[in-house]
Amino acid sequence: MAGIVLRDVHKSFGEVEVIRGVDLEIEDREFVVFVGPSGCGKSTMLRLIGGLEEATEGQIIIGDQDVTGLPPAERSLSMVFQSYALYPHKTVRENMGFPLKMAGEPKEQVAAAVQEAANVLQLGPLLDRLPKELSGGQRQRVAIGRSIVRAPLAFLFDEPLSNLDAALRVQMRVEIARLHRRLRSTMVYVTHDQVEAMTLAHRIVVFSEGQIEQIGPPLELYENPANLFVATFIGSPMMNILSGKGFGEGQFRLEDGSELKTDRTLTGAAETAVQMGIRPEHIELDSEGPVHGKIAVVERLGADSFLHVDLEAGTTILVRQNGNSFLEEETKVRMRFLPEYVHLFNPEGKALTKNA
Ligand SMILES: Nc1ncnc2c1ncn2[C@@H]1O[C@H](COP(=O)(O)OP(=O)(O)O)[C@@H](O)[C@H]1O
Ligand SMILES: [Mg+2]
Repeated sequence: MAGIVLRDVHKSFGEVEVIRGVDLEIEDREFVVFVGPSGCGKSTMLRLIGGLEEATEGQIIIGDQDVTGLPPAERSLSMVFQSYALYPHKTVRENMGFPLKMAGEPKEQVAAAVQEAANVLQLGPLLDRLPKELSGGQRQRVAIGRSIVRAPLAFLFDEPLSNLDAALRVQMRVEIARLHRRLRSTMVYVTHDQVEAMTLAHRIVVFSEGQIEQIGPPLELYENPANLFVATFIGSPMMNILSGKGFGEGQFRLEDGSELKTDRTLTGAAETAVQMGIRPEHIELDSEGPVHGKIAVVERLGADSFLHVDLEAGTTILVRQNGNSFLEEETKVRMRFLPEYVHLFNPEGKALTKNA
């Protein structure tokens, strides 16, 4: 087991620089999740760590070894991808044992390692089947099993669950959490699934265009996003963003003229243009509230209802209510934004910090 350090890593494909200076220290045994929009460089970053791509610049250190120039086989990492390439004519047992067999391990040791991995992943009853006799989830579990038999220094996962259906994805997500608890190895996990990122990660790394926007524990990113990008990327449904003007001690005026209090000081000149952010669960319906709107759509999801409310300024915001909300479409409502949860962003998109 080992930590992973990235120092000013760059990667270009021809003229195009897709990783633009990444610095990151992943601790031994840590579970780190990479998120970011499609094409931002998550897979490339993972492949650079695994040695499947060569860095154009910078340093990659695993444990206490600089592996920047080493081929994948000398990095002692295991990678699991979205497509689980199992050998179709080998049984589960043979598929799982194959990496060890290739490494020249004695038969008894291969058998023991396969048995242990099978126990961890509850694959025991399937060991003599062929891949075609398995479901998608079982095949992915075999692929993970094959990656754990080698007891690698760290695991790299690239969207390993995105080919599975929703129910199975939930089940496998829990299995990966258990696996991490049991093996206590360093794991780097790429996903575009909010829930996977929020539930699995010790720390989430948010990427955008080949750079890191913010690193932190899931709830810290959720509660204190450093900028507009992270604020709108983390959280589903998304944070509501409204434009307006700040005019002094925590006062904010929306485009429709309604005035709100916040607990962030607006620095600089009066009447500063800013963006305001508020999550759907931090808006209260209040007959005396300063913000006026009309319910356009009610989405009842069971535990929650989401109200899509049209504001007078023309924007629509999302308000979270209990699942049994009695509110109907076309109803006029007034709202209050809880001041301690109002986020403000300067014209460059950087979050303004809370007052002490
Ligand atoms: N082998 C390659 N050659 C050229 N461009 C590549 C190659 N691999 C990835 N890219 C480009 O690098 C960018 C990042 O890709 P990728 O790391 O796969 O993004 P993500 O995994 O975040 O969706 C994309 O614009 C992609 O087209
Ligand atoms: Mg990818």
